[in-house]
Amino acid sequence: MPVHLYGFAADMAAITKLAKEHNLYIIEDAAPAIGTLIDGKAAGSFGEFGAYSFQGAKMLVTGEGGMLVTSDPDLYERARKIQDHGRKPGTFWIEELGYKYKMNNITAALGLAQVERSENQINQKRRIAGWYKDLIGNHDSLKMQFETPGTLSIHWMNSVTLSDDLNISRDEVMEKLKADGIDTRPVFPAISQYPIWDREHQPGPVATQIGANSINLPSGVKLSKASIERVCESLVNLI
Ligand SMILES: Cc1ncc(COP(=O)(O)O)c(C=O)c1O
Repeated sequence: MPVHLYGFAADMAAITKLAKEHNLYIIEDAAPAIGTLIDGKAAGSFGEFGAYSFQGAKMLVTGEGGMLVTSDPDLYERARKIQDHGRKPGTFWIEELGYKYKMNNITAALGLAQVERSENQINQKRRIAGWYKDLIGNHDSLKMQFETPGTLSIHWMNSVTLSDDLNISRDEVMEKLKADGIDTRPVFPAISQYPIWDREHQPGPVATQIGANSINLPSGVKLSKASIERVCESLVNLI
């Protein structure tokens, strides 16, 4: 399950190759990456399934909910059945255990209206990312998430990794930014660190380092250049 984290494309060429070699299905977590492109093809359209989120903080919002996509007609029928109580289509006959994951019309109308303005939203996200890049992209103690060649990120969230040798911790930076009126989020920890798995895996050192030292910076589409400048000034003053 590759994740197109914060709107940045996962390495689908490598993952697709690996999946073919080991006969694996791919389910892409494209939750924050609607509009992200890999060699011109949509993130979420490489695997057997792709899943997108329309939860409140995403670029395309319907309140909650999301969308599962597939190009395989059999998988499509199966998924449709499971999300509709496992009913035989068009009947009330339950053929297998299912769930109710339907999107209602009002929510869908909200989503469709947002699809119409998604290009504007993506352009604004990319503009904000450009401002961050100009202001802190070359800072010695900060590393920004970047687009790999051939990919186009929607920059859902702009994230920075703080270098290890600072005299201030990531959490202290976040607290001080908060005191200055700037809300941030910690970057997701390595998923293998959660205590929910039957089997224990040591997380990779890179994922651990990024998870412990990185911050999502304010990235909402309504932010002005002056606001981004203030965020960067406050951040740079702290480190
Ligand atoms: C990579 C990724 N996966 C999954 C989710 C969760 O989406 P949802 O809340 O719609 O289940 C998010 C939300 O931030 C996300 O960024």
